[in-house]
Amino acid sequence: MKAAPLRITSLDVRPRALVFEDMASRDLLHQIRRIAPSEATVLILGETGTGKEVVARYVHSLSRREGQPFVAVNCGALSETLAESELFGHEKGAFTGADGTKTGWFESANGGTLFLDEVGDLPLKLQVKLLRVLQEREVVRVGSRKAVPIDVRVITATNANLDEAVVAGRFREDLFYRLNVASLRLPALRERPGDILPLAEHFLRVYAQRARLDEVSISAEFVHRLLDYSWPGNVRELENVVHRAILTCREGRIDADDFPLGSGRETALLQEASALPDPSTAALERALLELYECGEPTLFDRIASTVITTAFRFCHGNQSETARLLGISRNILRARLLQFGLLSDRRVDARASTGLVGHIGTPGRVRCGGS
Ligand SMILES: Nc1ncnc2c1ncn2[C@@H]1O[C@H](COP(=O)(O)OP(=O)(O)O)[C@@H](O)[C@H]1O
Ligand SMILES: [Mg+2]
Repeated sequence: MKAAPLRITSLDVRPRALVFEDMASRDLLHQIRRIAPSEATVLILGETGTGKEVVARYVHSLSRREGQPFVAVNCGALSETLAESELFGHEKGAFTGADGTKTGWFESANGGTLFLDEVGDLPLKLQVKLLRVLQEREVVRVGSRKAVPIDVRVITATNANLDEAVVAGRFREDLFYRLNVASLRLPALRERPGDILPLAEHFLRVYAQRARLDEVSISAEFVHRLLDYSWPGNVRELENVVHRAILTCREGRIDADDFPLGSGRETALLQEASALPDPSTAALERALLELYECGEPTLFDRIASTVITTAFRFCHGNQSETARLLGISRNILRARLLQFGLLSDRRVDARASTGLVGHIGTPGRVRCGGS
């Protein structure tokens, strides 16, 4: 495929600009504009990174609820035990640990829109309660008998196949119909190739401005790679690739080797990895990019410190148990505990403090800056 280089000299970014250039995206835009002003519940379907949350916000901003709260909740991240009180709130003393009254997400979104992301992950017990809230338009806090009236438009999203979940009995059919009054299917980025370059240009503006570059250009080869890649992680992956390229390029000139994905097996593996619908992967990628940007290559140490400290506390300071739980030797654990200040020198035996500390130093430091 023949590709022309891109050069961007005006780095003005419209706040919250959205890109819908491909014909498939323009169709979507029409549907959004048609659905938004109604009060209908909207179900947004699409692979991870296709823009489900930005579309939900856009629907909200085009509705009469604009200016009222937009509350986004990731149902996949709610713990099963606390999910009910997170969504509907609780009264003081409703359960052990409920020290005070808590307003749930539904009440927080009152007057506005509640966006329930990854709704397919909602436990069945809560699916029943959600359906009730949608039908009665009122919530009852955990530990209370009083119903609080609410005026909330609910928008949900999922990257799972809800039809299959219904057939398998993991998702209630009645709730599915209630949520699916209007639906929007976001095409994967590979299904709307006409968006790739406009999106890349958009993110170039955003991240070049942040990096205080006055002018950026991307070579024809880089453009070619953008167009040639299948983008399993969709818009989010494209955003990360452009962001990273801005950080690695020299003097605003982005070239082929600023494209992080090579070819062959390595790319296939990376593609597989970024296709995983795992929110923690996306969060980790963001954290990595931020570290890359601020030039503080300590991610491994930070993660190791969190994992080891938490496990040590979990095992009430018992070293053998912690080592077993983590699947590392006791000596390595001790050396790490020493490093993180959880043990004094005195308590580490000679072998650990002399022989091993060097071997378990920081592997794979993150490369920083443009060099
Ligand atoms: N059409 C678009 N125009 C501009 N940016 C977009 C667009 N779609 C997605 N993004 C950006 O891509 C990233 C992923 O979008 P998000 O809504 O979180 O995806 P999802 O919820 O489907 O995983 C976000 O940073 C978002 O701002
Ligand atoms: Mg999302």
